[in-house]
Amino acid sequence: MSAPLLAACELEHRYPGGVVALRDLSLNIERGRKLAILGANGSGKTTLLLHLNGTLRPTRGEIRLENHPARYDRRALNDWRRRVGLVLQEPDDQLFAATVGQDVSFGPLNLGLSKTDAEARVREALEALRIVPLAERPTHTLSFGQKKRAAIAGVLAMRPEILVLDEPTAGLDPHGVTHLLGALQQLHEAGTTLVFSTHDVELAYAWADEVAVFHDGAVLRQGEAVAVLADREVLRRARLRPPLLLELAQALDAGQGGFGESPPRSREALLALLRERLQG
Ligand SMILES: Nc1ncnc2c1ncn2[C@@H]1O[C@H](COP(=O)(O)OP(=O)(O)OP(=O)(O)O)[C@@H](O)[C@H]1O
Ligand SMILES: [Mg+2]
Repeated sequence: MSAPLLAACELEHRYPGGVVALRDLSLNIERGRKLAILGANGSGKTTLLLHLNGTLRPTRGEIRLENHPARYDRRALNDWRRRVGLVLQEPDDQLFAATVGQDVSFGPLNLGLSKTDAEARVREALEALRIVPLAERPTHTLSFGQKKRAAIAGVLAMRPEILVLDEPTAGLDPHGVTHLLGALQQLHEAGTTLVFSTHDVELAYAWADEVAVFHDGAVLRQGEAVAVLADREVLRRARLRPPLLLELAQALDAGQGGFGESPPRSREALLALLRERLQG
């Protein structure tokens, strides 16, 4: 098997003041997949994500990029951040330019693209997030959901190989969530590797290929989404509940042979199963 695109190897992170936020944490990010980092508040999700683009350095262990230990000199960091784009949990921590358009163009201009090419990138990113009409708006006047989209657009415009998003759906309305997932799905289909943190088991179940369950700064289990989310013991230890969709599907299917590896993972698929069972 080839080396993972990005890996965290036995990471420890101790914040100044002594809080140990990651302890012996190992995790693999495989090319072309959608990985959900699932964990309760304070389990270490944000701390880990900040290690994935070199914003934080581990106090022990290492990050590996295609099997090479990460380096933290300026050149290496620039190159690393070009490949791994991180969208922060709080959009206010990410947005800094006066207007949305200026904010989103910062990355491409910084990559050394011409003004015309940078403008094309900005346009593409604003379109992907459906915020073209907000281009001239001062960032501080945006609603939370609009800020979130603007922050994502800014990272998208860099066309990273790996897009890392910290709680991308938190604070978005249902339409906003559907729309964001659609945009991310398109990126995924174009080859972008996606990593996102969440405490929403339903989201992880419906959307991730793989899930890593965090608890107290360590990974309790990483694997295929359905297998991990059917592991009640792991979820209980992580203080999470199994996805309702999966529980309903299991209840509906009781004694009927099971679904193997592919239980319904969307509302529509579950409803279809329900109708089938009611008729049969
Ligand atoms: N700057 C900091 N200084 C000291 N401790 C910190 C700092 N940032 C986070 N921590 C601590 O590290 C632990 C992990 O925090 P982290 O933010 O990584 O969790 P999280 O899983 O992202 O939580 P949430 O779901 O609330 O976003 C927590 O105990 C937190 O209090
Ligand atoms: Mg967090």
